[in-house]
Amino acid sequence: MIKIKVRRAYNVDVARIAEIEKGAFPPEEVLSADRLRWCFRAFPEGFAVAEAAGGGGAVEAGEIVAAMVCRPTALRRITNEIYETKELPKGDTFAIMTFIVEPGLQRQKLGERTIAAALELFRRNGVKNFSLACKDHLIKFYGRHGFKLAGESELKLGGALWYDMYLGR
Ligand SMILES: CC(C)(COP(=O)(O)OP(=O)(O)OC[C@H]1O[C@@H](n2cnc3c(N)ncnc32)[C@H](O)[C@@H]1OP(=O)(O)O)[C@@H](O)C(=O)NCCC(=O)NCCS
Repeated sequence: MIKIKVRRAYNVDVARIAEIEKGAFPPEEVLSADRLRWCFRAFPEGFAVAEAAGGGGAVEAGEIVAAMVCRPTALRRITNEIYETKELPKGDTFAIMTFIVEPGLQRQKLGERTIAAALELFRRNGVKNFSLACKDHLIKFYGRHGFKLAGESELKLGGALWYDMYLGR
């Protein structure tokens, strides 16, 4: 099993996060490298990465294998605005914009371990509330990490049907 260490991201990690993002989503849902760079400038505290710490065969120690990007906001549900570059009302919720595992390493429980450690990292930094939008096949996954279903999302990303979930509050 790959050992991981989940930590805050550095500026140099953003290109690798963009590469994983590009492989993990269909083109119409991908956050571009430019947009991810904008996000990192605006709210670096919302970025967490899982770095391989060894024990993973083909994966070298130090390689980033998963990431989570959250936008701090007062908005309680996920809307298209979260994905735009205009200023949002400041607040106490981390809106999870993306959560990704390197495509070649998916379904090996890296997602489970990364989300648990990333939530813990953010909580240690004082964040108590989280929101996200996901497709129906991931509702149970997030439910296992304490997220509650809030209903259909207003989000229209990629024209898909998204469901809002929240944790805290
Ligand atoms: C979603 C994602 C982050 C999960 O990470 P992962 O390492 O692949 O998932 P895990 O191995 O930890 O999954 C554990 C369990 O979650 C559920 N699960 C994970 N991915 C799933 C999927 N695509 N469809 C249905 N269930 C899924 C399953 O119950 C799985 O257990 P199983 O593999 O024994 O069936 C990863 O698959 C990914 O990057 N997907 C593409 C991008 C994406 O959709 N991100 C989420 C945006 S809301």
